[in-house]
Amino acid sequence: MTDITDTADADTDDPGTGIDPGPDAGGPGDEQPAEPPPRALRAGEPVLLIDSKQRRYLVTLTPGAEFHSHTGFIRHEELIGRSEGITVRANRSGNFLVLRPTLADFVLKMPRGAQVIYPKDLGPLLLLADIFPGARVLESGVGSGALSMTMLRAGADIIGYEVRADFLSRAVKNVTAFLGPEVLDRYRVEERDTYAGIDETDLDRVVLDLPEPWQVSPHAARSLRPGGIIVAYTPTIVQAVQFRESLPEHGFGQAETVEVLNRSWHIDGQSVRPDHRMVAHTGFLTHARRIVTA
Ligand SMILES: C[S@@+](CC[C@H](N)C(=O)[O-])C[C@H]1O[C@@H](n2cnc3c(N)ncnc32)[C@H](O)[C@@H]1O
Repeated sequence: MTDITDTADADTDDPGTGIDPGPDAGGPGDEQPAEPPPRALRAGEPVLLIDSKQRRYLVTLTPGAEFHSHTGFIRHEELIGRSEGITVRANRSGNFLVLRPTLADFVLKMPRGAQVIYPKDLGPLLLLADIFPGARVLESGVGSGALSMTMLRAGADIIGYEVRADFLSRAVKNVTAFLGPEVLDRYRVEERDTYAGIDETDLDRVVLDLPEPWQVSPHAARSLRPGGIIVAYTPTIVQAVQFRESLPEHGFGQAETVEVLNRSWHIDGQSVRPDHRMVAHTGFLTHARRIVTA
């Protein structure tokens, strides 16, 4: 049950500041409004509700709204102004742990247009692309915005090309729901076909998650600065191979393709073993540098 809405009307007041009553405020004994805890939950922000069976629900805090489950409902106003990390009780029964979602939580729970890149690949991808604050990045396709929000949070300045208008709009909603509308200063998206070309020049990075990245290699070669990095995420090794084959003829070197395996462990008393289930396959990450011959 995912309940996430636009954050355009989010309350952006700083709740941690508190209220200074000033020198003319009433004397001892007067009722003072309770000061909200530091970093209190605010209207407009997403929170994760986790029940006793570890089911997770993503909710955007909205005055007047209610979260409903089989154990009853919780009024959002019971959460606004309180700390994360608390446990609240639904009106009939059942406790819910209340936490701000991490980036990985949000990516797995947010509404999707296109399939997202999973957190296990997003982390390594940040390092393989060597994303840094202020990096000028061309990203395509934008899809649901999972990769966008990961690179934006690491400080990148992104131009996103996406061929589908509906996906673009979903990505912008997701990105602003997690990072706030101020991030749009560093996130410009355009509805366009990346196979037809890239307008930007002097880019630091080109990061691709679209079906035929080899069609972008010649454009990336013209748009990346010398030493710049190209990265492509591809679900199949056949795509990775075709992309790799396109790289040398367009002046890319130092290429490498990696797959990320992430195996969690069950640790409970004497029962210590790998979990029975894992996400066995998602995709391949290929990265290379733009080399200039003197
Ligand atoms: C798997 S999704 C990307 C998901 C995204 N990386 C994320 O993490 O949310 C692939 C996207 O590439 C877009 N796409 C496919 N061909 C394209 C092209 N030629 N130019 C721009 N976007 C394209 C699709 O519309 C789709 O949204």
